[in-house]
Amino acid sequence: MNKTMSGKPAPVYVDNAATSFPKPPEVVETVCSLLGGISLSPGRAAHRYSLECSRIIFDAREELAGLFNCADSSRIAFTGNVTEALNAGIFGLFGGKLHPGDHVITTALEHNSVMRPLRYLEKHGPLSISILPVNENGEVAMEELPRLLRDNTRLIVVNHVSNVTGAVLDIAGIGRRKGEALLMVDAAQSAGVFPIDVEEMNIDLLAFTGHKSLFGPPGSGGFYLRPGLMLRPLKMGGTGSNSETEIQPDFMPDLYEAGTPNTLGIAGLGAGVGFVRRTGLTAIREHEQRLCNLFLDGLQSLNGVTVFGPAAGRPRAAVVSLRVKGKSESEIAHALDREFGIMVRAGLHCAPAAHRAMGTFAHGTVRFSFGFFNTEADVAACLRALDELGRR
Ligand SMILES: Cc1ncc(COP(=O)(O)O)c(C=O)c1O
Repeated sequence: MNKTMSGKPAPVYVDNAATSFPKPPEVVETVCSLLGGISLSPGRAAHRYSLECSRIIFDAREELAGLFNCADSSRIAFTGNVTEALNAGIFGLFGGKLHPGDHVITTALEHNSVMRPLRYLEKHGPLSISILPVNENGEVAMEELPRLLRDNTRLIVVNHVSNVTGAVLDIAGIGRRKGEALLMVDAAQSAGVFPIDVEEMNIDLLAFTGHKSLFGPPGSGGFYLRPGLMLRPLKMGGTGSNSETEIQPDFMPDLYEAGTPNTLGIAGLGAGVGFVRRTGLTAIREHEQRLCNLFLDGLQSLNGVTVFGPAAGRPRAAVVSLRVKGKSESEIAHALDREFGIMVRAGLHCAPAAHRAMGTFAHGTVRFSFGFFNTEADVAACLRALDELGRR
């Protein structure tokens, strides 16, 4: 075990599905230099700091548009995170494209940031909701989609990559089969690792968070909205545009961006997306994949470890959920941190339906999630620690 000068184990961060760490140096540099460098109120004045801020935000929008193949970057609106983006999408459609009595399809792998708004509207809309089931490998049973589609299915909301099992959903396949329904995608775990092309995949609303594989700071995120589609904004207020009127502007992105934005977060996100695009999705994915395969291979020789998730050879992200026989999930996570310096996340990962489907409710699993800055030595440390804990 690597030790620090104080004799404590060197930290090994493998909780990248929660938030990525470390951030690329240019993200840290961007955020730090900006906070001490200029005032941060874009689009509100004609002075140089305000103009500089507007340019930084425009550049970040352009980076994201490039990453998602969106021709017009003004179709991207910034929010505080993907939760806000999904809420803006789900509640924003209600009363417009989505009406009481309409039908929505989602999956059993969804995060509560999708499930809770949908369950709210199921009760108070009311909407009717069908759930695409999940098989024992934690993958969505896509073959069930045609059976669930109805004449009044107006919306399909799906997770691109599961934060519990790492399973990857065939978004383009849903895009081809969705009929008249709108397709909303939660790209929290996939953006920055897997290719996302809003045109090719026929996505109507893509929700992303800044602080995971896009390497931005927490408090950054947003959504892409297909041209021609409109949401009722969750908030209204000052935008720095059309200030002569008391009516919210009806054009993007201002329609959804009332209030002084998180310029620091957006600037960091822009730098993070720049890093992703320069490094290349393939290089990032292949590195994470290699570490994940090493880990999965190593787990096979450990006694008492059960892994939940896609079978070998199936598409997956570097997210591995497991249990250790005879030990509680919180006990394992606690020992990994305190004794081995290894940071993971135990529990339900805000996705109770996924755990119900896999039979791991209510205690959940211990989740290891590898990121671009992890190394083979990190994987080896995780395997050694699990081996030792399993033997106790
Ligand atoms: C699949 C998925 N959706 C949504 C979220 C919520 O992300 P945020 O807290 O950034 O809004 C997460 C984060 O854990 C996630 O993994």
